[in-house]
Amino acid sequence: MSLSVVILAAGKGTRMRSALPKVLHTVADKPMVSHVIDAARCLNAESIYLVYGFGGDILKANINGDDLTFVEQKEQLGTGHAVDMASPYINDSDDVLVLYGDVPLTKVSTLESLISVKPEDGMALLTVNLNDPTGYGRIIRDTENKVTGIVEQKDANEEQLAISEANTGILLANGGDLKRWLANLSNDNAQGEYYLTDIIAACHHEGKTITTAHPETEVEVEGANNRVQLAALERAFQLREAEALMLNGASLRDPNRIDIRGKILIGEEVQIDVNCIFEGEVVLASGVAIGANCILKDCTIGENAVIKPNSIIEGAVVGDECSVGPFARIRPDSVMNRDSHIGNFVEMKKTILGEGSKSGHLTYLGDTTVGKNVNIGAGTITCNYDGMNKSQTIIDDDAFIGSNSSLVAPVFVGTTATIGAGSVISKDVGNDELAIARGKQRNIKGWQRPIKNS
Ligand code: UD1
Ligand code: CA
Repeated sequence: MSLSVVILAAGKGTRMRSALPKVLHTVADKPMVSHVIDAARCLNAESIYLVYGFGGDILKANINGDDLTFVEQKEQLGTGHAVDMASPYINDSDDVLVLYGDVPLTKVSTLESLISVKPEDGMALLTVNLNDPTGYGRIIRDTENKVTGIVEQKDANEEQLAISEANTGILLANGGDLKRWLANLSNDNAQGEYYLTDIIAACHHEGKTITTAHPETEVEVEGANNRVQLAALERAFQLREAEALMLNGASLRDPNRIDIRGKILIGEEVQIDVNCIFEGEVVLASGVAIGANCILKDCTIGENAVIKPNSIIEGAVVGDECSVGPFARIRPDSVMNRDSHIGNFVEMKKTILGEGSKSGHLTYLGDTTVGKNVNIGAGTITCNYDGMNKSQTIIDDDAFIGSNSSLVAPVFVGTTATIGAGSVISKDVGNDELAIARGKQRNIKGWQRPIKNS
């Protein structure tokens, strides 16, 4: 038996007040529907059907979905009608799981528990007890506590409205059963819609069993209809990520002030201060400490490296024992080798910094290769761009670059060479040489300062 997943995403999402289809609005930089699709993939679904209504082209362009079948629901006639759009594709022998494109936080383990409770000849329903179930369909049970149906809020009587067990909408049924029940739905109800929820009574009438499973937390089954709810889901998602990090051994100064918009892999004893953002794939090796307000994207930080506050690192490798910042910016294709140091207001781009080398203050290093144990003085600029082309700067081991120097690329500075402060270096400097390229100092004796005009 194989699993098919039908994801409902045809709603317009008017309350988002957006040109974007609702399910493309993101949680942790990933469309809500992609969270749902990824959960389906984790269940090893044989087929995934995405029922869409609006913005089909935008959806296809924004979802990584080679393995998806897009099924159009031209008119939104109800959740039952929406699932029925996928009926022509569904095999009778399939297990069919219905998910919602705007309910992004359902845990795979919760869906697995739903799958595990489903009777062979019957269906399984994910329900949740709510203090305030207003708006939700209510689960109707008989005197033996067996589920017999679902009644929607707008169709419910007083007694039914008092039921706190709510329908999450997520359910699992046999393909053959589901198609038969859907084909027989009517829209004779308060909303004039074909309710998916009416299949529960149909199942019961055929003498089949309906079992229930429950999420660990309510947020797993919450959808986002507007940006307030979307922001709440974002925080819930982030708190969950933060807790996973802490359970893996990271220390977070405040789990409410971290944003993980991708994957983060950590070693032991990692510390992260407040307001850091992690994007793409980030690796933090053992002993790494990240200061407040850092943004790290697609980068690897080596063992015991210290990233001081307000630093931005993207597409780079920071070696073991390195220190970065505060206020440093390391741009793509940069590598800091072991025990090297980048200080405040230093920017690196496509630059390799050798082991033990230092650039402590106010510097730009672009398209540059720096050897070992080089000291780069404050205010050094590699002039890598002539307005048309980028050129390389090479600085060899043990060189010393005096403060406020400009290295006009392409240029080479040899091993143990020294550059005098304030130099503009446009010619190669040999090993062990001292290069000074600046105006000579004149001292004028008895100099009279100007006096203020009256
Ligand atoms: C539905 C359930 C209700 C449950 C609640 C949980 C029904 C009849 N009711 O109510 O029991 O408690 O969800 O949130 O199923 N959609 C389509 N095509 C349609 C209609 C809806 O794709 O024609 C999609 C919507 O985009 C949405 C989802 O299905 O993502 C649910 O539809 P919605 O109208 O919000 O259902 P509810 O009234 O909330
Ligand atoms: Ca809803």
